[in-house]
Amino acid sequence: MNRLRKRFPAGAPIFREGEPGERAFLIEAGRVEITVCRGGEPLRLATLGPGEIFGEMALIDNRLRSATATPLDEIEALVIDRRTVQELLDGADPLLRLLLRVLLDRFRDTQRRLTKESATGSPYGESEDETLTSATRATAERLKLADDLSEAVDKDRFFLVYHPIVDLTTEAPAGVEALIRWDHPERGLIGPGAFMPFAEDSPAIEPIGAWVIEQASAAVSDFQNALNEAGGASDHAGRPFVSLNVAPRQLHAPGFADRLARILAASEVPPNHVKLEITERLLMSEPDQAAAILERLKEIGVRIALDDFGTGYSSLNYLHRFPIDTLKIDGSFVLRMLEDATSHSIVRAVVGLSDALGLEVIAEGVETDEQAHELRQLGCHYAQGFNYGRPMVFHEAEAMFRQRGS
Ligand code: CMP
Ligand code: MG
Repeated sequence: MNRLRKRFPAGAPIFREGEPGERAFLIEAGRVEITVCRGGEPLRLATLGPGEIFGEMALIDNRLRSATATPLDEIEALVIDRRTVQELLDGADPLLRLLLRVLLDRFRDTQRRLTKESATGSPYGESEDETLTSATRATAERLKLADDLSEAVDKDRFFLVYHPIVDLTTEAPAGVEALIRWDHPERGLIGPGAFMPFAEDSPAIEPIGAWVIEQASAAVSDFQNALNEAGGASDHAGRPFVSLNVAPRQLHAPGFADRLARILAASEVPPNHVKLEITERLLMSEPDQAAAILERLKEIGVRIALDDFGTGYSSLNYLHRFPIDTLKIDGSFVLRMLEDATSHSIVRAVVGLSDALGLEVIAEGVETDEQAHELRQLGCHYAQGFNYGRPMVFHEAEAMFRQRGS
């Protein structure tokens, strides 16, 4: 193991201008002089002491040492290696990486102009212009998408479609999952896969999420009325429910639960007819906070479904630690369950688990009557998939519930 703390005697440079660099140093004791060579003479740029860092530039942008570092006294320093920095950079937001690169390029350029008599080209190695340009291009695209998203909120360019979820015993529609679509002025209709992963990590998720909740609550209230008018399911339990996908950032936003409660009250939707579909990502990142938020949501009375169950960690601990009501078996298992024994076993295990824990279970991705039959045999409660229709626009979904009532 390389030691994290290093000592250097006074006098001999730790590294020289123009060398490649693998380490930065945090000074604990002693002083280091930073110099560049100007017309054959060293020009002092700085004297650094305890608590200061040197050697970071070559680590951040992979270029050569911009200066020579020479201890003035014996120094003691903590070592920061390239891998550590690289891992941090890899995990950082691309915009942040770009800003860092631009800043460093400008700093190098300015320093070169100020310290060299005739600065022609870079003595420190050329900047990787291609990577910088493609990083800038990618960032520009993301910024444009973020701007398009906020414009789409303002201009009402989103709409919801409703994917039927049927009761497997009767095959009658029991509820819907609300799914977002984007009617983009240039790109046409866009499904959630193309923009929600990005939106979910951007501030735009809050207005988009709020819009989804409002629309979906109003819609499910209309579906319930349509069913009632047609004479069906006047009892509470038989009313259709709506499932909404919520992103971690949306749930963690202060006041989310209260806003949700207000919207539901305004649209007169009984909260227990609203399911929030969450993913393991929410439970994993900040589990204590997630538990508190979910408890608060339970107080309001909404239900919580764990989406894509079986694909991630699917930790049994989640089911015990968080107030979850429903498991949604990921469609990939359902799709293969009749051909592939492992998929079949997973589906059976999840249904059995739900049963033992008193949870509801919904199978996603049901495409054939044979799959539906098998799921019914296993004791699965609900099914969703093309076997029961594609996602529908509002009027189609409303007609579907009206028909169920008649
Ligand atoms: P790096 O280019 O990796 O190696 C030389 C180091 O000197 C550089 O990182 C910085 O840590 C430091 N350095 C360069 N220019 C200055 C400056 N103007 N003031 C203080 N430190 C500097
Ligand atoms: Mg979902």
